Amino acid sequence: MTRALKRMDPWQTVEDLSPGNALLRHQISLRYGSVGMDVPASELVITSGAMEALNLALESVTQPGDVVAIETPTFYGALQALERRGLRAVEVETHPRTGVDLDSLARVIDEHPVKACWFMPTFQNPMGSTMSDAAKEQLVGMLATRAIPLIEDDVYGELAHGARRPPPAKAWDRTGWVLHCSSFSKSLAPGYRIGWVAGGRFAATLGRNKLMSSLATALPSQLALQEYLQHKSFDRHLRALRHSLSRQQAACLRLIERYFPTGTQVTCPEGGYFLWLALPEGVDSLTLQQDALRLGIGVAPGHLFSADRRYTRHLRINYGHLADPRLEGAIRSLGDLANAQLKSATEKSEPIFDGHSSRP
Ligand SMILES: Cc1ncc(COP(=O)(O)O)c(C=O)c1O
Repeated sequence: MTRALKRMDPWQTVEDLSPGNALLRHQISLRYGSVGMDVPASELVITSGAMEALNLALESVTQPGDVVAIETPTFYGALQALERRGLRAVEVETHPRTGVDLDSLARVIDEHPVKACWFMPTFQNPMGSTMSDAAKEQLVGMLATRAIPLIEDDVYGELAHGARRPPPAKAWDRTGWVLHCSSFSKSLAPGYRIGWVAGGRFAATLGRNKLMSSLATALPSQLALQEYLQHKSFDRHLRALRHSLSRQQAACLRLIERYFPTGTQVTCPEGGYFLWLALPEGVDSLTLQQDALRLGIGVAPGHLFSADRRYTRHLRINYGHLADPRLEGAIRSLGDLANAQLKSATEKSEPIFDGHSSRP
């Protein structure tokens, strides 16, 4: 940032209003190119994190009162964004490993006047699911035929644990119906608040909406990121990060197996930094979260990930805090809390029999 600011021309503050700094957009366009995608800089709008990109996308393709299809479970930020804009959510079944169920989506589209879909096809939050390339292609085709925009939230896409970064659904977009939203928040620098949207056929509307809502994204952050992408090896950084996340996931899974109640089911995503757990019947994850918080441990209860609070025995664990020596203690405490809940649930359901009194 220091280097970038030394070179900053004050006129840039005017020149780099929405859609954002041209050199940064060029660097992002090159990154699309490195995975074989043709996304010109002119299609990109720089935003304040992916959250603004997603909100602008929603605003550009819907009117208050419209129906938007979302995954279930889904990122609570999506639920909040829909609520804020007065939109109605309709949930599409989503598999913990393979993501959006296309048959369920087809049914939802037949039954509801869906105006847009907001999906995370790669390393979904909270489950970490990833749709196959074939399913992504089918999804894009299905929505394009029906003229339904796909708002693709791809903030975890760069965090593949293996060598291959799964291409976003946008890679199969031939007609501009996909609005691909991402950021550097999860992969490089959350505090800089730099995100973007590749808006397809909606790019001009997005640029205008960005201008009307906040004029521009903070220029020092844009220039610092541009400087970094031009002169440093983002890919080398990503390789190290992915490797660490993969090791951390393995460690976390081993600890869960050791300390959590028998019957706990857990996902094993190929990227990102979340694990999604289904605990045995009898555990309430909201109580668990509150008890854990008193011990200084943060987890996300399943309740947060659906409008109807249906994931009451589910938990999302974040293993993104690399090499934290407190991890084992924290997982053990969570396991103890879950086991204690199960024990008291079993005791409550067992008939109390006092051996001294005679039966009626
Ligand atoms: C799925 C998902 N989308 C979007 C965001 C927001 O990203 P940003 O910090 O770049 O605004 C988050 C952050 O938690 C997220 O998990």
